[in-house]
Amino acid sequence: MQLPSYKEARSRKKELVEREVYQSSKDVILGKGKTYYVKTYGCQMNEHDSENIKAMLEELGFSESLEMEASDLIILNTCSIRENAHNKAFGMIGRLKHLKESRPELIVGVCGCMAQEEGVVSDILSKYKQVNFVFGTHNLHRLPYILKKHLDSQKQEIEVLSVEGNLIEGMPVKRASKHKAFVNIMYGCDKFCTYCIVPYTRGKQRSRDKADILREVEQLVAEGYQEVTLLGQNVNAYGKDRNDQYCMENLLEDVAKTGISRVRFMTSHPWDFTDQMIHVIGQYSNIMPSIHLPVQSGSSRILKLMGRRYTKEEYLDLFDKIKKNIPNVSVSTDIIVGFPGETEEDFQDTLDLVEHCKYDNAFTFIFSARENTAACRLKDDTPLREKEQRLYRLNTIVNRYFLENNQKLIGTVVPVLVDGCNENGKTDLFGYTDTNKLINFNGDQSLIGKMVSVKVTDAKTWSLDGELVEF
Ligand code: 5AD
Ligand code: SF4
Repeated sequence: MQLPSYKEARSRKKELVEREVYQSSKDVILGKGKTYYVKTYGCQMNEHDSENIKAMLEELGFSESLEMEASDLIILNTCSIRENAHNKAFGMIGRLKHLKESRPELIVGVCGCMAQEEGVVSDILSKYKQVNFVFGTHNLHRLPYILKKHLDSQKQEIEVLSVEGNLIEGMPVKRASKHKAFVNIMYGCDKFCTYCIVPYTRGKQRSRDKADILREVEQLVAEGYQEVTLLGQNVNAYGKDRNDQYCMENLLEDVAKTGISRVRFMTSHPWDFTDQMIHVIGQYSNIMPSIHLPVQSGSSRILKLMGRRYTKEEYLDLFDKIKKNIPNVSVSTDIIVGFPGETEEDFQDTLDLVEHCKYDNAFTFIFSARENTAACRLKDDTPLREKEQRLYRLNTIVNRYFLENNQKLIGTVVPVLVDGCNENGKTDLFGYTDTNKLINFNGDQSLIGKMVSVKVTDAKTWSLDGELVEF
């Protein structure tokens, strides 16, 4: 049994991590004739991890079930970012207790960020006996062995490493889409923003070798993929943990040169966003003009308490530079309200920043104290009611700008990658514009996975309506 330790998770060892090639398990018998269901919570990083989990299970002979209740193995890939993500996963673990009472042969596994939390693992050990095995974010590739260990021992197996191991290359992947793919370019984060649990659950920053990334993208191009999203907690810092002077602007340029129709990347921290990056994004038409640039707060005082390393003015300078130098760019953001000690005046600074930036999209949250982070120890005397009102006021303003920005597109023709069809009709298609806006329009299902031009006919707060432009 290996349990997580925050003390170890905080440590940042100097040595470069080693590259290791994934070895497929030959224990195919393990899942023959059995089904699995993976429930994913949280961010794209987790979604992509689930694509690896599914492929590993299929190598073991399991097949995917679309019905959780009927499957033989259920894996919950969890998220720790805020308390409600936590509560959702624990709610599901509770539900699985009942399911297991009616089907004792059901196997339940828990992984992802919550598995890296000391408190969660001790609760699973003492209270949640329905969980058969737990593995963490650093040893995803060990799933076949941990599952086998549980089947052999019939005991609760916990294998969570607090410190990252090697960089594992060549893991199998069962991609959710045939035309859009996630590609990890780095793992972990060294920023330690004071509210954030990620540096503890995902470990130190480790960038993948550029050759591995480019090989993966080239392979996707050869398979007919149209879009890649380069993933990392802090993608602009790509390469800073390596010795080869090859950084994000170089990688973006090389990925664009593979000829893939669309390149996206997320998430960017303003701190590492260089002028060279802005230049490269503006230069390549296949790097999408859509940037997620979390600000978190518009108050320089709160930004300092958050450990964000920039002031309101520095953020606005960067924002203006991006808007000026990348044609047609859309910018989205993340904002936290009610950080400990946030006053009405600090909050007004956030509203003021939002009035300047007029974001195309924004994800807004109430501060959630996370175990062991620096911010969870700060005095927090703003009542929840007050925080909820701030969130409401903020949302009213950001929503207004989403709608205004969308309305500006009415009458224009936008490039769209067709994603799929809505449930309410076979010709009711949807896709995303270059600026990452959801658009609904009519067309034949054969267009799914293709690039088309769509004329915008109407705008809503969170989506556009359009008509296919025929050539
Ligand atoms: N409370 C509220 N929001 C948080 N985020 C990260 N940690 C917390 C927290 N403790 C938000 C940030 C981040 C996004 C992914 O989640 O805005 O950018
Ligand atoms: Fe969390 Fe900050 Fe790292 Fe983003 S940059 S993952 S908010 S610590």
